[in-house]
Parts: sequence; C-alpha cells; structure tokens
Amino acid sequence: MTDVIEVSHPLICHHLTQLRDKTSVPAEFRRLVQRLSVLLAYEATKDLHVQAVVVETPLTTSEGQVLCQRIGLVPILRAGLGMVDPILNLIPSAEVWHLGLYRDEATAKPVEYYSNLPEEHPSVDVVLLLDPMLATGGSATAALQSLQRWGVPKVKLLSIIAAPEGIAEVETNFPATQIYVCSIDRELNEQKFIVPGLGDAGDRIFNTQIPEE
Ligand code: PRP
Repeated sequence: MTDVIEVSHPLICHHLTQLRDKTSVPAEFRRLVQRLSVLLAYEATKDLHVQAVVVETPLTTSEGQVLCQRIGLVPILRAGLGMVDPILNLIPSAEVWHLGLYRDEATAKPVEYYSNLPEEHPSVDVVLLLDPMLATGGSATAALQSLQRWGVPKVKLLSIIAAPEGIAEVETNFPATQIYVCSIDRELNEQKFIVPGLGDAGDRIFNTQIPEE
C-alpha cells in the first residue's frame, strides 16, 4: 500500500495559498515553490539513514551523526527544476539527474524528451522525484518507470499539489513509492487540470504563460 503523506503545517498552508493566487507574479511564485519544497523535503527526509561519527569541536570531541545514504534528486522538467536548488541546499551532496517529460495537450499523456539517467547500476540509494504537480499521474508514472529501469531501491515523490486521480495512478503502478504533498486537491477538470490547483506550474515558474485573449 502506498504511503501518501499530506504534510500539514501552518507555513505550508500560508505559502500554498499565495502560490495558488493568480496574482502572484513569477518571481514570487518561484520563491513560494522554493519554500514549499524545503518544507516537503524536511518531511520526506525524516527516515534517511545516518551513521555515528565523532567530530572535534574547538573545545572537545562530540558524537554526532551524518547521512550515510546516497541521495538523488530527479526533477521532472520543466517545473520540477524549481524544486531542485532549495533541496540541494539541504542536501548538498545529492546527485541531480534530469528527466524531461511534457504532457501532450490533446491526449494528456506524457511524452519523454530527455533523460540523462545512466545505463549502469544506480549510484544512489534514495531518489526524491520532484514535480510540483501530480495531475493524471502519467508523467510521474513514466518517471517512476525510468527510475525502476535504472534500479533505484527507493523513490519518494514530492509534489506540491496532487489530484486524487494522480495519486491513484501512482498507487496502482508503483505501490512502494511514498508520496509527499502539500495538498490533495479536489479533482481534475475536463482538460485534466488540477482543481482548484494553481494553473501551470512550469509556465508560472518560467514566465511563459500565454496571455488570455
Ligand atoms: C505538468 C506538471 C507535471 C505534469 C502533471 O507539466 O509539471 O509534470 O504536467 O500532469 P500529469 O500528472 O497529468 O502527467 P507540463 O506537461 O505542463 O510540462 P512543463 O513542466 O514543461 O510545464
């Protein structure tokens, strides 16, 4: 059974509300994505493995712990790129691998246009798969298939908002994947957009929205 964690926190509610607001301009939208990504990553990394170490402080020695798993960040282009830097700031040693997928507007099916995942055995133990939006789940499922082919032992999907339909799709195809979201929204509309949603995250991050006529 898939773990679906809807992270509940006043800061998440606050920043998510501004993120949804259609008057938030791209610079603000990017900052909000960054803040929410940090909060999601904080929750999603709670069970990372650590090992005991001893460090010399300026005064004496101190027992401590350091991460002992190799972490990969895999953003789904484009919108997932907005989540990379803030999480890389938390885990500076993480590897970043990229997957390019867009959703065909006519069919709502994912189209893969880029992947730099290597052929050989995975170089990471845990992947944080990053995409602000989980709508039909087609893109996430395609990304999870690529990660499965690479042989990654554990994947956590971090999405700022998700539709119930997308969660169900991932649960059906990849029940071992843990899903962390800031909000499970109401539904998908006829065009397969998340409602109430936040519009198109990629376009709002990169300021490529085509103005309405
Ligand atoms: C959006 C979003 C996800 C995908 C979600 O990307 O960032 O990748 O759609 O939809 P799905 O769950 O139905 O597959 P989009 O295709 O707009 O590409 P972009 O990030 O380049 O804007």
